[in-house]
Amino acid sequence: MKKYFITGGCGFIGSNFVHYILRGKQDALVINLDKLTYAGNLKNLEQFENDERYIFYHGDICDQQIVRKIFVDHKPDYLINFAAESHVDRSIGKPDDFIQTDIFGAFTLLETAREHNIDRFIQISTDEVYGSIEKGSFSETDPLMPRNPYSASKAGADRLAYSYFATYDLPVIITRASNNFGPYQFPEKLIPLFVTNAMENEKLPIYGDGKNIRDWLYVSDHCAAIQYIADNGVIGEIYNIGGGNELTNLEITDIILEETNKPNSLKKFVQDRLGHDRRYSLNCDKLIALGWQPKHNFSQAMQSTINWYRDNEQWWKPLKSGEYLEYYKQNYKGL
Ligand code: NAD
Ligand code: DAU
Repeated sequence: MKKYFITGGCGFIGSNFVHYILRGKQDALVINLDKLTYAGNLKNLEQFENDERYIFYHGDICDQQIVRKIFVDHKPDYLINFAAESHVDRSIGKPDDFIQTDIFGAFTLLETAREHNIDRFIQISTDEVYGSIEKGSFSETDPLMPRNPYSASKAGADRLAYSYFATYDLPVIITRASNNFGPYQFPEKLIPLFVTNAMENEKLPIYGDGKNIRDWLYVSDHCAAIQYIADNGVIGEIYNIGGGNELTNLEITDIILEETNKPNSLKKFVQDRLGHDRRYSLNCDKLIALGWQPKHNFSQAMQSTINWYRDNEQWWKPLKSGEYLEYYKQNYKGL
C-alpha cells in the first residue's frame, strides 16, 4: 500500500488529486494536512470523510510539530506539497502570506522530511517561475525570472527543494505545470470567475487588452501527470506539465459566453494587472519522453467544467458572498 502525505488537499488541485488517487487505487492511504484558508474547502472531500483510506489534519505546513507527527505516526511513502497561497492578484495586494506559506512552509516540510525516510518529495511548482515569454517555449533548464510576489515565492520554494536534493540527497522531484481548470477551483481565478459571473449575468472583468496567453491544462490531466511522475520520474529532476492549449483571455471569454449562452455585452475591459505576464508557454518534451502526455480534449474538458459549475451552484454561491465579496469589491476597481 502506498501512503500519500498531501498538503493543501482541500484546495483546487489538491482535492482533485485526492479524488484521483482514491478513485483509482483501493490500496492507497491519503493523509491530508490543510490550514483551511479561504481557498481550502472541506466540502471538496466530504465524500471521503468516512473512508478509512483518508485522514485529515487541520494544520499549517509551517508548524513543524504537526508535520513531524504525521511523519512519525504514518510513515508516508510520498509527500506531495500542493499547499500554497496561489492567487497572483492577492500576492500583488499583500505578499506576506505568500512568503510565509510558499517559502517557509516548503522549508519546514523539507527540513522535517530530512529527519525521516521518504521515497519521494514532490514539490508542486508552476510555469510562472520562468516569467513571461513572447515567442517559443520554456524548457526545464531555462533560467527563472518570476515577475510577481506569488511566482517569486514559488521560485524560492522550487530552488530550495532542489537544494535539499543536491545537498542532502533528499529524493526531490519538482513539477512546473501550466494554468489548470476544472471542478472545485475557487471562483477568483479566470475560468471559474467568468463562468459563475456569466451564470449570474455579472460583468466579466478582462484585464488590459485581453490578449495575454495562458496554456490551459485540465486538472485531471495534471493529477495523472503528478501520479506518473511520482512513480516514474527521476529524482532531482524537474518536469514541465503543459496542456498544449494556448489561448488568449479573450478567446477563453468568448468560449464561456458561447457555452453559457450569454451576450457579448457582459465583457468589460478593466485596468490591467500590475506586472501582468504576457504569455506562458512550456516545452514538455522531457515529460513526453518519460512516457506521459495529457489525454483530455480541451473543448470537451471546458464543456464539462462549465457543466460542473452549472450543476454545483451550492458549492460556489456561498464562496462569492460575505468576506470574499468584500475583498472583491475593494480590490477589483472598475466593476
Ligand atoms: P488553492 O489556492 O486552490 O489551494 C491551496 C490549498 O492550500 C488550500 O486548501 C489552502 O487551505 C491550503 N493552504 C494554504 N496555506 C496553507 C498552509 N500554510 N498550510 C497548510 N495548507 C495551506 O491552490 P491550487 O490552485 O489548488 O494550487 C495548488 C498548488 O499548485 C500550488 O502550490 C500552486 O502554486 C500550484 N499550481 C497551481 C496552478 C493552477 O493553475 N491553479 C498551476 C500550476 C501550479
Ligand atoms: O500558470 C500557472 C498559474 O496559473 C498558477 O501557478 C497560479 O496559481 C494560478 O493562479 C494561475 O495564475 P494566472 O495569474 O495565470 O491565473 P488567473 O486565473 O488569475 O489569470 C489568468 C489570466 O486571466 C491572466 O492573464 C489574468 C487574466 N484575468 C484574471 C482574472 C482573475 C483577467 O483578465 N480577469 C480576471 O478577473
